[in-house]
This record gives sequence, C-alpha cells and structure tokens, in this order.
Amino acid sequence: MNIDGKAWRTIWLEQGGRSVGVIDQTRLPHAFETRSLASLDQAAEAIATMVVRGAPLIGVTGAYGLMLALQVDPSDRALAAAFEQLLATRPTAVNLQWALERVRALVAPLPAAERAGAAQAEAAAIAEEDVAMAEAIGEHGLALFREIAARRPAARQGQPLNVLTHCNAGWLATVDWGTALAPIYKAHRAGLPIHVWVDETRPRNQGASLTAYELGREGVPHTLIADNAGGHLMQHGQVDAVIVGTDRTTRSGDVCNKIGTYLKALAAHDNGVPFYVALPASTIDWSLHDGVAEIPIEARSWQEVTHIQGRIASGSATGEIASVQLSPDGTAAFNPAFDVTPARLVTALITERGVAPATEAGLQKLYAAV
Ligand code: MRU
Repeated sequence: MNIDGKAWRTIWLEQGGRSVGVIDQTRLPHAFETRSLASLDQAAEAIATMVVRGAPLIGVTGAYGLMLALQVDPSDRALAAAFEQLLATRPTAVNLQWALERVRALVAPLPAAERAGAAQAEAAAIAEEDVAMAEAIGEHGLALFREIAARRPAARQGQPLNVLTHCNAGWLATVDWGTALAPIYKAHRAGLPIHVWVDETRPRNQGASLTAYELGREGVPHTLIADNAGGHLMQHGQVDAVIVGTDRTTRSGDVCNKIGTYLKALAAHDNGVPFYVALPASTIDWSLHDGVAEIPIEARSWQEVTHIQGRIASGSATGEIASVQLSPDGTAAFNPAFDVTPARLVTALITERGVAPATEAGLQKLYAAV
C-alpha cells in the first residue's frame, strides 16, 4: 500500500535476515518511523507493546522472532523457550500460535545448523501467503460490495456505498492489503464509489489513528465517528454494510475481534444492515466451537482506558506526541481488548477462498478441513 507515493509492506527482512524492519504503529498517524528488530526480545517486545499489531502481522512477526532466536541459539531448548516467550506476548489472535507452530514444526526435525535458515524461509513464505490471502479476500469482498451496491434502490444508484468498519483491519494489520479493508481498497481502485465510516475504536483508537491514516494515504473517502455513533447511523439508513476483521474465528463461525465489535453487530442486526467479517485461513481456530466460552480475551493495561495518546494541539509542546489523563486519579478501570460476536449475528465470512455463511458447514465447505 502507499505512503506518499511509495509502496510499503509492514514487515521486511534487513541485512540478509540479521534483523527485521517494521513500521512503528505506536507513532502513527503523527510520525512515520521504522524500527529494526534484531533479537528475539525485540520481536517479542514489539508485539507486546503493539509496535506491530493486527492478527496476521503479529503472526508473521512471531515467525521472524523465532528466526532471530535460532540465529543466536538453534538448540531444542532455545527453540522451546523462544516459542513460549513469543506466544505469551498476546493471547487472543490465533495467527500468532499458528505461525509459531508452523515454523517450529518445520525446523524441529532439522539439524541445528539448518534451523535459522529454514525459519527465515518459512517466515518469509508465511508473509507472502498473507499478502496473497489478503488480496484474494479483497477480490471476493469487492464482488459482494458490487452486489450490495446494485441492490440499492434506484434513487441511490451511483452514490457511494457506505461501509462502517471497526478497529484497523487494513494493511497495517497484515503484511499488505488488510482483511476488512482489502475489499474497500479493491472497490476504490475499481472505481466503485465507496465511503467508509471509521469507528475511533477506544481505548487505543486504532480506527482514528491507523484506519484513518491508511484510507487517507490511499485516497479513500472516509469519515471518523465516535464509537457510539454507529447505531444511530444505521437507524438512519447511512450504513449499507459493516465489515470488520477477526483475531480468532471458531469452527462454528463465532468471531473474536476488537472490543466493541459485538455492539456493532447487535446494532446491524437490529437495523437489517449486513455484517461481514473478513479473514484468512490463519485466523480460524478449528479446535474451538463456542467463542464466548472458549476464546482467551486479552486484558490490557487499565491505563489505556484512563489515558489517551495524541499530538499536542496547542501551547509550548505543540506537535509533540503525548499521553494525557482522562479520569480522576485512582479511578478503577478495566480493559478487555476483544469481544466475541456470535455467528448468528454474522451475515457472512469473507475468506481468501470465497464467501461463506458463518457456520461450521460453511467453513468446512470452503476448507474441507478437519
Ligand atoms: O489489538 P489489535 O490492534 O492488534 O487488534 C486488531 C484487530 O482487532 C483487528 O481487527 C484484527 O486483528 C483483524 S486484522 C486483519
């Protein structure tokens, strides 16, 4: 995707694989800075502190983290320890576990001297596959958007399709393209008029900071809204479809995504607005059935709720990125980072293999799995 006319990916190899380059997402949208991850600890820290975030991207970063660990110590013990360290960084997105298991399964039978090189090749393959899956999701979602646009009443034909999204499931959350935003980019490039309602996505504001940034750089028309505005817009016919990503999808089609997604699904259901979830195969957890009961929900620092980060807009510190406190000193705060939307509220899943109902049969038909 484009930043000031230059095509970027979110993660890349440097120095022939001695380090990994990433975009520091904690600094966006006010500063575009890259970071070099040169060790296991730096990769783990980048995931935990959300320098990199988004389910597919943390999977790829985890895979490269194993590579960095094996370059220093390719022993069985070091492999096991690196696996556990990376896995512990963020518990909800199953892509992390999936990517770590994939690299471990490949390197474990190899002689120690071959492990780091094999890990590098496998991590790079995971990254390439992620791009291909995201682009395919984009194509399938575009076809769906065309159908929705064509079904609208004659008076609304030709007007922009209004799509609401939550959090950031764009190219910054993947290696390129994104999941939920991939169909939006495809639509925009194909000339289908589209406008995006961007949920701010408290507490970390990935919508306000990252989705708005991405869409702006790609020239996609969009409007930032407070998280609480979506239901109102849906009641007034201003949302044609909702599309979000997911960090873990059960075999039955329950989807776990950024906190607040469930409320949008409820509002969409009440207003007859289709609610789509876009995902690659790496986000499906075939071992789980009941998302509400079984998916581990990350609880992040209470300070993400009591404080907010932004660019100082006035005074002597104008332009600096700073954190400010919102609530009284000592206010108790709780910060579950994800919630689960039951499959019954999901109109369809958009995957790299096509569009399926959010059911076990729907997923199995696409993946012919387990
Ligand atoms: O906490 P984050 O920013 O990593 O959460 C990201 C999301 O919730 C995305 O919607 C999800 O990872 C799907 S991304 C393609």
